[in-house]
Amino acid sequence: MDGNGRWATARGYPRFYGHIRGAARVKEIVRFSRETGIKALTLYAFSTENWKRPEEELSVLWKILKKYLKREVHELKKQGIRLHVIGEIDRLPKDAGAELKAAIETLSAGREMNLTFALSYGGRAEIVEAARLIAKDAVKGRIDPARITEADFAAKLFTAELPDHGDVDLLIRTSGEMRVSNFLLWQCSYAEFDFPEVQWPEFTVEEFRKSLGLFSSRKRRFGGV
Ligand code: FPP
Repeated sequence: MDGNGRWATARGYPRFYGHIRGAARVKEIVRFSRETGIKALTLYAFSTENWKRPEEELSVLWKILKKYLKREVHELKKQGIRLHVIGEIDRLPKDAGAELKAAIETLSAGREMNLTFALSYGGRAEIVEAARLIAKDAVKGRIDPARITEADFAAKLFTAELPDHGDVDLLIRTSGEMRVSNFLLWQCSYAEFDFPEVQWPEFTVEEFRKSLGLFSSRKRRFGGV
């Protein structure tokens, strides 16, 4: 969800206002995804690198997240949405972490769509953690190193509970930046990419439809012919 800060600054607003407008888009895009039949939607809300931002901006971000959860959790439950968080949830401020854990619990029976927030998330850190877990299993004799499969490894990632272990079909990064920035590195192996020029606060349902249209037109061969 890139470009909140630039969107705000270009219009003479403080950066945090871009995040407020961005959160309104989150609400619309989540609802639309559920209605469209998308089974998993993962939103990169905060990377491990984002901790470098000024304290003031960070505290607004956590406030927005808490407000979103408080306001939306009942609606999400009605829609049958299950919530997951990937990333270092323990690094988040206590109240935000508690609100997230409560929302995950409230929404645990959701079967219609998996909504995942990536918070204090980094793809390399996730892969290293999975390697640690597999190594522990090997040391304990629970797995034979010579027989470790891709599926065994994927089952140790933060996305293990998601459909297809979280394999990404379509990655959309707004604001025209053409970088992956440490997002779902393993899971994006066969992903299609779209880099719309609009900033995240401008990413309306119409823009999302365009991305989905583009995705439908791509021929995915997964290395075959
Ligand atoms: C990237 O834009 C966006 C973020 C770091 C925060 C995203 C957060 C939200 C959309 C709101 C809260 C989220 C939820 C899940 C309710 P940027 O600030 O890096 O923009 P810039 O590159 O223009 O500076």
